Amino acid sequence: MGEDAHATQDMDVTSMPRKESEMTESAVYPQTRSTIDVMHGHTSCRRFVNEPVNRDVVETLIEAGTRASTSSNMQAYTVISITDAELKRRMAYLCADQPQIHKAPVFLAFCVDLHRLQLCCGMHDVEGVDFGLAEAFVMAVVDTALVMENVAVAAESLGLGVCMIGEMRGHPFEVREALKLPPLVFAVSGLCIGWPAEKNEPKPRLPLEAVWHENTYRADDELIPMIEAHDGIMSAFYDSQGMHPSDPRWSSVAAKRAAGMARRKDVGAALRRQGLNTQGE
Ligand SMILES: Cc1cc2nc3c(=O)[nH]c(=O)nc-3n(C[C@H](O)[C@H](O)[C@H](O)COP(=O)(O)O)c2cc1C
Repeated sequence: MGEDAHATQDMDVTSMPRKESEMTESAVYPQTRSTIDVMHGHTSCRRFVNEPVNRDVVETLIEAGTRASTSSNMQAYTVISITDAELKRRMAYLCADQPQIHKAPVFLAFCVDLHRLQLCCGMHDVEGVDFGLAEAFVMAVVDTALVMENVAVAAESLGLGVCMIGEMRGHPFEVREALKLPPLVFAVSGLCIGWPAEKNEPKPRLPLEAVWHENTYRADDELIPMIEAHDGIMSAFYDSQGMHPSDPRWSSVAAKRAAGMARRKDVGAALRRQGLNTQGE
C-alpha cells in the first residue's frame, strides 16, 4: 500500500468541496483511502453541515452500491432517493422525527424488492413462484443490506457521513403509502448522507472471538466473560467521551434495545400486506 493511501485518514472533511461548481472529479475524489481504513474509521454521523451533496456524487454512491453481490444476481432491492422536501419531512416524521434526517441533504430508502422479479416471471410465463416464502424474504433482505452497506462505505470513502435509519420500520403502512410501494416491496432502512459536522471516535466492538467462532458455535460459558469484558470497555469508552449513561454496560443497553423491538409491532402485518414472508399463514 502506498503512503498516499493513508494520507487522508485525518483529513478535514469540512474543507472538501461542497458547491456544485466545485465538484470536479479531481476535487471530489482528492485522494483515496484504503477500503479497510474507511471501514475502521466508520462512525454513524448524526450532525451534518448545511451543504448539499451533488447529485452526481449520489449517483456515484448508488452505482457503487449496485456492485454488491446479490443472491443469484437477482438484485432484489430498490433504492428510493427522497428529494421532495415535503416528502422528506413526512418521512422524517415517520422515522421518529430524528433530527439527522432533517439535517442530511440526502435521504435514501432501501427497499426489499421482489416486485421486479415478479415482472420477470410474467415476462417469461414462469408460474407458481411463491414470493411469500421466508427464503425469498431473507434473500431479499440480505441483498438490500449489502447494497446499503456498499453505499455507506462508498460515501465514507469520500469523507461523507452516514446514518442508517431502522426507524423506517416504525410505521411501515404509512411509509408504504408515502413511497407508493407496490406489493412485494418493503422499506427496510433509511440512510442519511451528508457532509459531517462532527468527528466521532469509532465505537468499540465486541471482542473478535465473541463474533468469530471456529468450526462450531462457542459455549455460553465462554461467551459470557467476553460480553462482560466488552461491558467494561464500553463503560470506559463512554467515560472517555464525557458521556455518563445511567447503565453504560453494553449488554444491558443491548438487552433493553432488544426488548424495544416489540415497539415496531406493525412490521409483520405490513410485510404480509405486501405479500412478503407469508409462509405458514
Ligand atoms: C439497520 C440499521 C438501522 C439503524 N437505525 C438507526 C436509527 O434509526 N437511528 C440512529 O440514530 N442510528 C441508527 N443506526 C445506527 C446504529 O445505532 C449504529 O450503527 C450503532 O450504534 C453502532 O455505532 P456506529 O455506527 O457509530 O459504529 C442503525 C444502524 C443499522 C445497521
